[in-house]
Amino acid sequence: MKFQSEILPELDPSAPLLDVRDLQVEFRTRDGIAKAVNGANFTVNRGETLAIVGESGSGKSVTSQAIMGILETPPAKIAGGEVLFHGVDLLTLSKERKRRVRANHVAMVFQDALSALNPVYTVGFQLAELFRKHRGMSKAEAKKKSLELLDLVKIPAAAQRINEYPHQFSGGMRQRVMIAMALALDPDLLIADEPTTALDVTVQAQIMRLLAEIQAERQMGLILITHDLGVVADVADKISVMYAGRIVEQAPVLDLFGKPAHPYTKALLRSIPRLDTKGQKLEVIEGLPPVLTNIPPGCAFAARCHYAQDVCRTDIPLLETVAADRAAACHFSAEVINGE
Ligand SMILES: Nc1ncnc2c1ncn2[C@@H]1O[C@H](COP(=O)(O)OP(=O)(O)O)[C@@H](O)[C@H]1O
Ligand SMILES: [Mg+2]
Repeated sequence: MKFQSEILPELDPSAPLLDVRDLQVEFRTRDGIAKAVNGANFTVNRGETLAIVGESGSGKSVTSQAIMGILETPPAKIAGGEVLFHGVDLLTLSKERKRRVRANHVAMVFQDALSALNPVYTVGFQLAELFRKHRGMSKAEAKKKSLELLDLVKIPAAAQRINEYPHQFSGGMRQRVMIAMALALDPDLLIADEPTTALDVTVQAQIMRLLAEIQAERQMGLILITHDLGVVADVADKISVMYAGRIVEQAPVLDLFGKPAHPYTKALLRSIPRLDTKGQKLEVIEGLPPVLTNIPPGCAFAARCHYAQDVCRTDIPLLETVAADRAAACHFSAEVINGE
Protein backbone atom coordinates (compact mmCIF):
# COMPACT_ATOMS: atom_id res chain seq x y z
CA MET A 1 0.00 0.00 0.00
CA LYS A 2 1.40 3.30 -1.12
CA PHE A 3 0.65 5.53 1.82
CA GLN A 4 3.30 8.00 0.78
CA SER A 5 1.10 8.60 -2.23
CA GLU A 6 1.78 12.01 -3.71
CA ILE A 7 -1.56 11.72 -5.50
CA LEU A 8 -3.54 11.25 -2.31
CA PRO A 9 -1.42 12.64 0.55
CA GLU A 10 -4.44 12.56 2.85
CA LEU A 11 -4.91 8.76 2.77
CA ASP A 12 -5.84 7.34 6.15
CA PRO A 13 -4.29 3.88 6.68
CA SER A 14 -6.70 3.07 9.50
CA ALA A 15 -9.79 3.63 7.31
CA PRO A 16 -11.11 0.75 5.16
CA LEU A 17 -9.55 0.34 1.72
CA LEU A 18 -12.89 1.14 0.09
CA ASP A 19 -16.04 2.27 1.85
CA VAL A 20 -18.98 3.01 -0.43
CA ARG A 21 -21.68 4.90 1.44
CA ASP A 22 -25.18 5.54 0.20
CA LEU A 23 -24.07 5.84 -3.42
CA GLN A 24 -26.80 7.13 -5.74
CA VAL A 25 -26.54 7.37 -9.51
CA GLU A 26 -29.27 8.54 -11.87
CA PHE A 27 -29.64 8.68 -15.63
CA ARG A 28 -31.72 11.23 -17.43
CA THR A 29 -33.73 9.28 -20.02
CA ARG A 30 -36.67 9.98 -22.34
CA ASP A 31 -38.95 8.24 -19.85
CA GLY A 32 -37.72 10.27 -16.89
CA ILE A 33 -35.00 9.83 -14.27
CA ALA A 34 -33.76 6.22 -14.09
CA LYS A 35 -32.48 5.47 -10.60
CA ALA A 36 -29.75 2.98 -11.44
CA VAL A 37 -28.03 3.02 -8.03
CA ASN A 38 -30.24 3.77 -5.06
CA GLY A 39 -28.11 4.01 -1.97
CA ALA A 40 -25.48 1.27 -2.30
CA ASN A 41 -23.38 0.50 0.80
CA PHE A 42 -20.42 -1.86 1.10
CA THR A 43 -16.81 -2.00 2.27
CA VAL A 44 -13.73 -3.85 1.08
CA ASN A 45 -10.63 -4.20 3.19
CA ARG A 46 -7.11 -4.83 2.11
CA GLY A 47 -6.61 -8.55 1.47
CA GLU A 48 -10.33 -9.15 1.05
CA THR A 49 -12.45 -10.32 -1.89
CA LEU A 50 -15.97 -8.97 -2.15
CA ALA A 51 -18.35 -10.33 -4.76
CA ILE A 52 -21.20 -8.09 -5.88
CA VAL A 53 -23.94 -10.26 -7.32
CA GLY A 54 -27.24 -9.39 -8.96
CA GLU A 55 -29.31 -9.86 -12.09
CA SER A 56 -28.50 -7.92 -15.23
CA GLY A 57 -29.58 -4.29 -14.84
CA SER A 58 -29.25 -4.21 -11.05
CA GLY A 59 -26.64 -1.42 -11.13
CA LYS A 60 -23.37 -3.37 -10.72
CA SER A 61 -21.48 -1.84 -13.64
CA VAL A 62 -22.73 1.66 -12.92
CA THR A 63 -21.50 1.25 -9.33
CA SER A 64 -18.05 0.15 -10.48
CA GLN A 65 -17.85 2.96 -13.02
CA ALA A 66 -18.75 5.46 -10.30
CA ILE A 67 -15.95 4.10 -8.09
CA MET A 68 -13.48 4.29 -10.98
CA GLY A 69 -14.55 7.81 -11.90
CA ILE A 70 -15.36 6.77 -15.47
CA LEU A 71 -19.12 7.39 -15.56
CA GLU A 72 -20.13 9.69 -18.37
CA THR A 73 -21.82 12.69 -16.79
CA PRO A 74 -24.21 13.40 -18.45
CA PRO A 75 -26.13 11.18 -19.12
CA ALA A 76 -25.24 9.90 -15.64
CA LYS A 77 -25.42 12.01 -12.51
CA ILE A 78 -24.04 11.09 -9.11
CA ALA A 79 -26.98 12.13 -6.97
CA GLY A 80 -25.45 11.39 -3.59
CA GLY A 81 -23.13 9.35 -1.43
CA GLU A 82 -19.41 8.86 -0.93
CA VAL A 83 -16.73 6.56 -2.32
CA LEU A 84 -14.10 6.61 0.40
CA PHE A 85 -10.69 5.20 -0.53
CA HIS A 86 -8.78 5.03 2.75
CA GLY A 87 -10.98 7.87 3.92
CA VAL A 88 -10.62 10.05 0.80
CA ASP A 89 -13.84 10.64 -1.14
CA LEU A 90 -12.89 9.84 -4.73
CA LEU A 91 -16.10 11.48 -5.99
CA THR A 92 -14.82 14.91 -4.96
CA LEU A 93 -11.43 14.72 -6.72
CA SER A 94 -10.60 16.70 -9.84
CA LYS A 95 -10.54 14.88 -13.19
CA GLU A 96 -6.75 14.84 -13.18
CA ARG A 97 -6.49 13.38 -9.69
CA LYS A 98 -9.12 10.76 -10.57
CA ARG A 99 -7.02 9.79 -13.55
CA ARG A 100 -3.96 9.42 -11.36
CA VAL A 101 -5.87 7.35 -8.80
CA ARG A 102 -6.79 5.02 -11.65
CA ALA A 103 -3.18 4.76 -12.75
CA ASN A 104 -1.81 4.09 -9.28
CA HIS A 105 -4.40 2.78 -6.84
CA VAL A 106 -7.57 1.36 -8.38
CA ALA A 107 -7.62 -0.76 -11.55
CA MET A 108 -10.37 -2.49 -13.45
CA VAL A 109 -10.86 -5.54 -15.68
CA PHE A 110 -13.82 -5.50 -18.04
CA GLN A 111 -15.91 -8.27 -19.56
CA ASP A 112 -14.90 -7.62 -23.13
CA ALA A 113 -11.13 -8.04 -23.35
CA LEU A 114 -10.97 -7.82 -27.13
CA SER A 115 -12.41 -4.35 -27.33
CA ALA A 116 -10.29 -3.14 -24.40
CA LEU A 117 -7.05 -4.10 -26.14
CA ASN A 118 -5.69 -2.23 -29.12
CA PRO A 119 -5.73 -4.55 -32.17
CA VAL A 120 -2.82 -2.87 -33.97
CA TYR A 121 -0.17 -3.28 -31.26
CA THR A 122 1.40 -6.42 -29.86
CA VAL A 123 0.43 -7.48 -26.37
CA GLY A 124 4.01 -6.86 -25.22
CA PHE A 125 4.03 -3.33 -26.58
CA GLN A 126 0.77 -2.45 -24.82
CA LEU A 127 2.07 -3.76 -21.50
CA ALA A 128 5.47 -2.10 -21.86
CA GLU A 129 3.81 1.23 -22.66
CA LEU A 130 2.26 1.26 -19.19
CA PHE A 131 5.66 0.96 -17.54
CA ARG A 132 7.27 3.48 -19.87
CA LYS A 133 4.49 6.05 -19.51
CA HIS A 134 3.72 5.75 -15.81
CA ARG A 135 7.00 4.50 -14.38
CA GLY A 136 9.48 6.08 -16.80
CA MET A 137 11.21 2.75 -17.47
CA SER A 138 13.62 2.08 -20.31
CA LYS A 139 12.51 -0.19 -23.16
CA ALA A 140 14.50 -3.12 -21.81
CA GLU A 141 13.26 -2.71 -18.24
CA ALA A 142 9.66 -2.38 -19.44
CA LYS A 143 9.95 -5.55 -21.53
CA LYS A 144 11.36 -7.48 -18.59
CA LYS A 145 8.49 -6.33 -16.34
CA SER A 146 5.96 -7.18 -19.07
CA LEU A 147 7.29 -10.73 -19.30
CA GLU A 148 7.12 -11.12 -15.53
CA LEU A 149 3.47 -10.09 -15.64
CA LEU A 150 2.57 -12.52 -18.43
CA ASP A 151 4.22 -15.24 -16.34
CA LEU A 152 2.26 -14.10 -13.29
CA VAL A 153 -1.04 -14.55 -15.16
CA LYS A 154 0.21 -17.95 -16.41
CA ILE A 155 0.36 -17.35 -20.14
CA PRO A 156 2.35 -20.30 -21.52
CA ALA A 157 5.43 -19.51 -23.65
CA ALA A 158 5.17 -15.87 -22.63
CA ALA A 159 8.52 -14.99 -24.21
CA GLN A 160 7.08 -15.79 -27.64
CA ARG A 161 3.54 -14.67 -27.09
CA ILE A 162 4.63 -11.23 -25.95
CA ASN A 163 5.25 -10.42 -29.64
CA GLU A 164 1.78 -11.49 -30.78
CA TYR A 165 -1.33 -9.40 -31.38
CA PRO A 166 -4.55 -9.58 -29.32
CA HIS A 167 -6.49 -11.47 -32.03
CA GLN A 168 -3.92 -14.28 -31.86
CA PHE A 169 -4.97 -15.00 -28.26
CA SER A 170 -7.97 -17.11 -27.20
CA GLY A 171 -10.71 -15.43 -25.12
CA GLY A 172 -9.32 -16.83 -21.88
CA MET A 173 -5.72 -15.87 -22.70
CA ARG A 174 -6.89 -12.38 -23.69
CA GLN A 175 -8.62 -11.99 -20.36
CA ARG A 176 -5.31 -13.00 -18.70
CA VAL A 177 -3.60 -10.24 -20.66
CA MET A 178 -6.22 -7.77 -19.41
CA ILE A 179 -5.59 -8.90 -15.86
CA ALA A 180 -1.84 -8.44 -16.40
CA MET A 181 -2.45 -4.90 -17.66
CA ALA A 182 -4.69 -4.10 -14.70
CA LEU A 183 -2.02 -5.39 -12.30
CA ALA A 184 0.89 -3.67 -14.02
CA LEU A 185 0.99 -0.60 -11.83
CA ASP A 186 0.41 -2.59 -8.65
CA PRO A 187 -3.09 -1.38 -7.68
CA ASP A 188 -4.37 -1.54 -4.10
CA LEU A 189 -7.86 -2.38 -5.34
CA LEU A 190 -8.87 -4.35 -8.43
CA ILE A 191 -12.44 -4.30 -9.73
CA ALA A 192 -13.31 -7.12 -12.13
CA ASP A 193 -16.69 -6.55 -13.82
CA GLU A 194 -18.01 -9.88 -15.16
CA PRO A 195 -14.44 -10.87 -16.08
CA THR A 196 -15.42 -14.37 -17.18
CA THR A 197 -18.92 -13.99 -18.57
CA ALA A 198 -17.81 -14.37 -22.19
CA LEU A 199 -15.76 -17.50 -21.45
CA ASP A 200 -16.62 -21.18 -21.18
CA VAL A 201 -17.16 -22.72 -17.78
CA THR A 202 -13.74 -24.35 -17.32
CA VAL A 203 -11.89 -21.20 -18.32
CA GLN A 204 -14.17 -19.16 -16.04
CA ALA A 205 -13.07 -21.21 -13.06
CA GLN A 206 -9.37 -20.91 -14.02
CA ILE A 207 -9.56 -17.14 -14.33
CA MET A 208 -11.43 -16.80 -11.03
CA ARG A 209 -8.81 -18.95 -9.31
CA LEU A 210 -6.02 -16.87 -10.85
CA LEU A 211 -7.60 -13.63 -9.61
CA ALA A 212 -8.01 -15.10 -6.13
CA GLU A 213 -4.39 -16.30 -6.04
CA ILE A 214 -3.00 -12.93 -7.07
CA GLN A 215 -5.31 -11.15 -4.65
CA ALA A 216 -4.03 -13.25 -1.76
CA GLU A 217 -0.40 -12.96 -2.80
CA ARG A 218 -0.51 -9.19 -3.13
CA GLN A 219 -2.99 -8.60 -0.32
CA MET A 220 -5.03 -6.40 -2.64
CA GLY A 221 -8.68 -5.64 -2.26
CA LEU A 222 -10.65 -7.40 -5.00
CA ILE A 223 -14.23 -6.71 -6.10
CA LEU A 224 -15.67 -9.43 -8.32
CA ILE A 225 -18.83 -8.39 -10.09
CA THR A 226 -21.03 -11.09 -11.53
CA HIS A 227 -24.62 -12.06 -12.30
CA ASP A 228 -23.69 -15.66 -11.44
CA LEU A 229 -23.44 -16.56 -7.75
CA GLY A 230 -22.02 -19.95 -8.71
CA VAL A 231 -18.73 -18.62 -10.09
CA VAL A 232 -17.75 -16.68 -6.96
CA ALA A 233 -18.61 -19.28 -4.31
CA ASP A 234 -15.05 -20.62 -4.11
CA VAL A 235 -13.17 -17.34 -4.30
CA ALA A 236 -15.07 -14.60 -2.46
CA ASP A 237 -14.73 -13.84 1.25
CA LYS A 238 -18.02 -12.02 1.37
CA ILE A 239 -20.91 -11.28 -0.94
CA SER A 240 -23.11 -8.25 -1.45
CA VAL A 241 -26.34 -8.97 -3.29
CA MET A 242 -27.64 -6.10 -5.38
CA TYR A 243 -31.23 -5.57 -6.46
CA ALA A 244 -32.62 -2.51 -8.26
CA GLY A 245 -29.61 -0.42 -7.31
CA ARG A 246 -29.48 -1.35 -3.62
CA ILE A 247 -27.51 -3.85 -1.62
CA VAL A 248 -30.22 -6.10 -0.17
CA GLU A 249 -27.96 -8.53 1.65
CA GLN A 250 -24.34 -8.84 2.64
CA ALA A 251 -22.70 -11.75 4.37
CA PRO A 252 -19.60 -13.94 4.53
CA VAL A 253 -19.84 -16.37 1.63
CA LEU A 254 -20.58 -19.52 3.68
CA ASP A 255 -23.29 -17.83 5.71
CA LEU A 256 -24.93 -16.50 2.59
CA PHE A 257 -24.98 -19.90 0.90
CA GLY A 258 -25.98 -21.69 4.10
CA LYS A 259 -28.68 -19.40 5.45
CA PRO A 260 -29.67 -16.54 3.16
CA ALA A 261 -31.42 -13.69 4.97
CA HIS A 262 -33.14 -12.04 2.01
CA PRO A 263 -35.83 -13.68 -0.16
CA TYR A 264 -34.04 -12.46 -3.30
CA THR A 265 -30.80 -14.17 -2.26
CA LYS A 266 -32.78 -17.32 -1.54
CA ALA A 267 -34.29 -17.18 -5.01
CA LEU A 268 -30.88 -16.56 -6.62
CA LEU A 269 -29.44 -19.59 -4.83
CA ARG A 270 -32.24 -21.79 -6.13
CA SER A 271 -31.46 -20.70 -9.67
CA ILE A 272 -27.78 -21.81 -9.63
CA PRO A 273 -27.05 -25.01 -11.56
CA ARG A 274 -25.52 -27.62 -9.23
CA LEU A 275 -23.37 -30.58 -10.20
CA ASP A 276 -24.92 -32.87 -7.59
CA THR A 277 -28.50 -32.35 -8.68
CA LYS A 278 -28.14 -32.92 -12.39
CA GLY A 279 -31.39 -33.07 -14.24
CA GLN A 280 -33.30 -31.36 -11.47
CA LYS A 281 -35.28 -28.41 -12.72
CA LEU A 282 -33.85 -25.05 -11.74
CA GLU A 283 -36.19 -22.46 -10.43
CA VAL A 284 -36.37 -19.17 -12.21
CA ILE A 285 -37.25 -16.05 -10.29
CA GLU A 286 -40.74 -15.15 -11.43
CA GLY A 287 -41.56 -11.64 -12.56
CA LEU A 288 -39.23 -8.84 -13.53
CA PRO A 289 -37.20 -6.23 -11.65
CA PRO A 290 -38.93 -2.83 -11.40
CA VAL A 291 -38.61 -0.24 -14.13
CA LEU A 292 -35.91 2.11 -12.84
CA THR A 293 -37.76 5.26 -13.87
CA ASN A 294 -40.71 4.13 -11.78
CA ILE A 295 -39.57 2.15 -8.74
CA PRO A 296 -42.66 1.40 -6.62
CA PRO A 297 -42.81 2.55 -2.99
CA GLY A 298 -41.67 0.08 -0.35
CA CYS A 299 -39.39 -2.87 -1.12
CA ALA A 300 -38.36 -3.09 -4.80
CA PHE A 301 -38.57 -6.90 -4.61
CA ALA A 302 -42.06 -7.04 -3.06
CA ALA A 303 -43.90 -7.79 -6.31
CA ARG A 304 -41.81 -10.98 -6.79
CA CYS A 305 -41.57 -12.05 -3.15
CA HIS A 306 -43.40 -14.92 -1.42
CA TYR A 307 -42.86 -13.33 1.99
CA ALA A 308 -44.31 -9.93 1.06
CA GLN A 309 -46.97 -8.36 3.32
CA ASP A 310 -48.63 -4.94 3.21
CA VAL A 311 -45.68 -3.25 4.97
CA CYS A 312 -43.38 -4.31 2.11
CA ARG A 313 -45.45 -2.32 -0.36
CA THR A 314 -45.23 0.89 1.68
CA ASP A 315 -41.98 0.96 3.71
CA ILE A 316 -38.51 0.60 2.22
CA PRO A 317 -36.58 -1.92 4.35
CA LEU A 318 -33.16 -0.62 5.40
CA LEU A 319 -29.96 -2.67 5.33
CA GLU A 320 -29.75 -3.74 8.97
CA THR A 321 -27.59 -6.12 10.97
CA VAL A 322 -29.19 -9.56 11.19
CA ALA A 323 -26.27 -11.52 12.70
CA ALA A 324 -22.53 -11.05 13.22
CA ASP A 325 -21.00 -9.58 10.03
CA ARG A 326 -24.32 -9.88 8.28
CA ALA A 327 -26.91 -7.41 7.09
CA ALA A 328 -30.13 -7.65 5.12
CA ALA A 329 -32.76 -5.23 3.88
CA CYS A 330 -35.98 -7.16 4.45
CA HIS A 331 -38.86 -6.67 6.90
CA PHE A 332 -39.00 -10.44 7.35
CA SER A 333 -35.29 -11.34 7.35
CA ALA A 334 -35.66 -13.16 10.70
CA GLU A 335 -38.19 -15.54 9.14
CA VAL A 336 -36.14 -15.94 5.97
CA ILE A 337 -32.87 -16.71 7.76
CA ASN A 338 -34.59 -19.28 9.96
CA GLY A 339 -36.07 -20.92 6.91
CA GLU A 340 -39.68 -20.46 7.90
N1 LIG B 1 -26.07 5.21 -20.47
C1 LIG B 1 -27.20 4.93 -19.80
N2 LIG B 1 -28.33 5.61 -20.03
C2 LIG B 1 -29.47 5.35 -19.37
N3 LIG B 1 -29.58 4.39 -18.45
C3 LIG B 1 -28.50 3.66 -18.18
C4 LIG B 1 -27.25 3.88 -18.84
N4 LIG B 1 -26.35 2.98 -18.36
C5 LIG B 1 -27.01 2.26 -17.45
N5 LIG B 1 -28.29 2.65 -17.33
C6 LIG B 1 -29.32 2.12 -16.43
O1 LIG B 1 -28.69 1.62 -15.27
C7 LIG B 1 -29.17 0.32 -14.99
C8 LIG B 1 -28.07 -0.49 -14.36
O2 LIG B 1 -27.09 -0.76 -15.33
P1 LIG B 1 -25.80 -1.61 -15.04
O3 LIG B 1 -25.08 -1.06 -13.86
O4 LIG B 1 -25.06 -1.67 -16.31
O5 LIG B 1 -26.40 -3.04 -14.67
P2 LIG B 1 -25.62 -4.40 -14.39
O6 LIG B 1 -26.00 -4.78 -12.99
O7 LIG B 1 -26.17 -5.37 -15.39
O8 LIG B 1 -24.17 -4.14 -14.56
C9 LIG B 1 -29.66 -0.24 -16.32
O9 LIG B 1 -30.74 -1.10 -16.14
C10 LIG B 1 -30.09 1.00 -17.06
O10 LIG B 1 -31.47 1.24 -16.82
MG1 LIG C 1 -22.82 -4.98 -15.90
